[in-house]
Amino acid sequence: MAKGKFITLEGGEGAGKSTQARLLAAWLGARGIDAVVTREPGGSPLGESIRGLLLSSQNGPIDPLTEALLFNGARRDHVLRLIKPALDAGRWVICDRYADSTRAYQGAGGQLDAAIVERLEHWVTADARPDLTLILDLPEADGLARAAARHAGTESLGGRDRFEAADLAFHLRLRLMFLRIARSEPARCAIVNAEPAVEEVSAAICAVVSERLGL
Ligand SMILES: Nc1ncnc2c1ncn2[C@@H]1O[C@H](COP(=O)(O)OP(=O)(O)OP(=O)(O)O)[C@@H](O)[C@H]1O
Ligand SMILES: [Mg+2]
Repeated sequence: MAKGKFITLEGGEGAGKSTQARLLAAWLGARGIDAVVTREPGGSPLGESIRGLLLSSQNGPIDPLTEALLFNGARRDHVLRLIKPALDAGRWVICDRYADSTRAYQGAGGQLDAAIVERLEHWVTADARPDLTLILDLPEADGLARAAARHAGTESLGGRDRFEAADLAFHLRLRLMFLRIARSEPARCAIVNAEPAVEEVSAAICAVVSERLGL
C-alpha cells in the first residue's frame, strides 16, 4: 500500500491551525482520502500528559532546553504510536503543530542554540518528515487577540497558557522564524495568509494541497 501523506500546520498563537486542520480533513474526506487529525504537543496518551506539563502555568518558568526535551519526548512518542503507523497504513496525517514549532518557540522564542534544536529534530523526526507544511501567517497581535477572545475569563492568566502569556517581542520572534523556515525550505513549506475569513483561508489551503500533493 502507498504511504499516506504527512501535512503539518504551523504558525503562532490563534493563527487558525486547529480550525484549518479540521476543515482540511473534511475536504480530503470528501475526496475519498482518509485523514487523521492530530496535534502537538499531544496526539498520544503520553504526549497529552506531557502537553499538560508544558502548557500549564503551575510549574513556573521552564528553561528552553528542558522545554525542547519535553516537546521532543512527546513528539517521539507521537511519531512512534500514531503518525508513522497511520502513514504506513496509507492514511494521511494532518498534524496541528510539529517540529517547526520547536524551532520557533524554543529556538527563536526561547533563544535555545539552533544546533541543539536541529540535532534533536533530526533524531526525533527521522521516521516522519512532513510532505507539506502550511505556515499560517498573520500579525502576532491579531493572533493573540483571536486566542484571547476564544477563552476570555477562564482559569489563571485570563485563560491563557504559558506561551500565550509571553510578551509581544517573543511572539514576533516566532512569526519571523516561521517565515524564515518557509523561505529556507520552499519545497516543503507554503506560507498561507491567515488574516482573511476562515472559509477563505481554507480555500487557499486546499488549493496548495491540491497543487503540491497532486490531487
Ligand atoms: N480566519 C479567521 N478569522 C477570524 N477568526 C478565526 C479565524 N480562524 C480561526 N479563528 C478563531 O480564532 C480562534 C483561534 O483559532 P484556532 O484555535 O483555530 O487557532 P490555533 O492556531 O489553533 O491557535 P493556538 O495556537 O492557540 O492553538 C478561534 O476562536 C477561532 O474560531
Ligand atoms: Mg490550536
